[in-house]
Amino acid sequence: SAVEYGLDAPYEVEYHDTIGSTNDRAREAASEGAQNLVVLADEQTGSRGRLDREWSAPSGGIWVSPVLRPDIPPAHAPLVTLAAAVATTTAAREAGVDAQIKWPNDVLVPTADGDKKLVGILTEMEGEADRVSWIVPGIGINANIDSDELPEGATSLREQVGDVHRRVFTQRVLETLDELLTDEDAILEQWREYALTLGQRVRVETSDDVVEGEAVDIERPGTLLVDTGSETVRVHAGDCEHLRP
Ligand code: BTN
Repeated sequence: SAVEYGLDAPYEVEYHDTIGSTNDRAREAASEGAQNLVVLADEQTGSRGRLDREWSAPSGGIWVSPVLRPDIPPAHAPLVTLAAAVATTTAAREAGVDAQIKWPNDVLVPTADGDKKLVGILTEMEGEADRVSWIVPGIGINANIDSDELPEGATSLREQVGDVHRRVFTQRVLETLDELLTDEDAILEQWREYALTLGQRVRVETSDDVVEGEAVDIERPGTLLVDTGSETVRVHAGDCEHLRP
């Protein structure tokens, strides 16, 4: 409910029982000048995922789109997305879940049945050449959701450790995110610590290429370094798959 989501200052919360997409609403509010606004919903009917995918957002999840105005150039924006992945992973680990990050920003839980997705992040922004005007890292956390309501390959906090208090969990995520945004080095360090991808064989589909090899490191602002055996390729964006031997 809206009351459950009475977050502490400095966030102003706009809560919807049901909405199309919290990201769409946050973008609209941002372009109208909103500051410190967090758009939250219990359920979304038209939520969007990365790479034009759909995202299932039934009642009980944490669907949250903060409007941020960090003083960074647009080129640094991927760091904000990494920070959102680190912040949700921190909160999930504190709740007792073995959450890990798949490059760039999927939060997964390794299970006997394969890695299952707990959190997805879709970041959207607008800016000038030298400064971001606003950035919305839209975070979808499969929180208090029954197994039979989850899409294939997904898991929820309910399935892993039982229900969480959504306000407390969200507060923790946003606090950690704020903290991380003051220290870009800390974002990368924490990301490395939480990474499932590093050290694994991966297959990354970019817009014009497929890169296969061992993921060896991440560098600013979110570039994955893949050792193909003959060279180290820098991948800036793409769809990453972990290859099992
Ligand atoms: C992905 O893994 O493809 C990203 C999923 C992002 C889903 C979140 S839920 C809150 C926000 N509103 C949306 O419409 N999408 C994001």
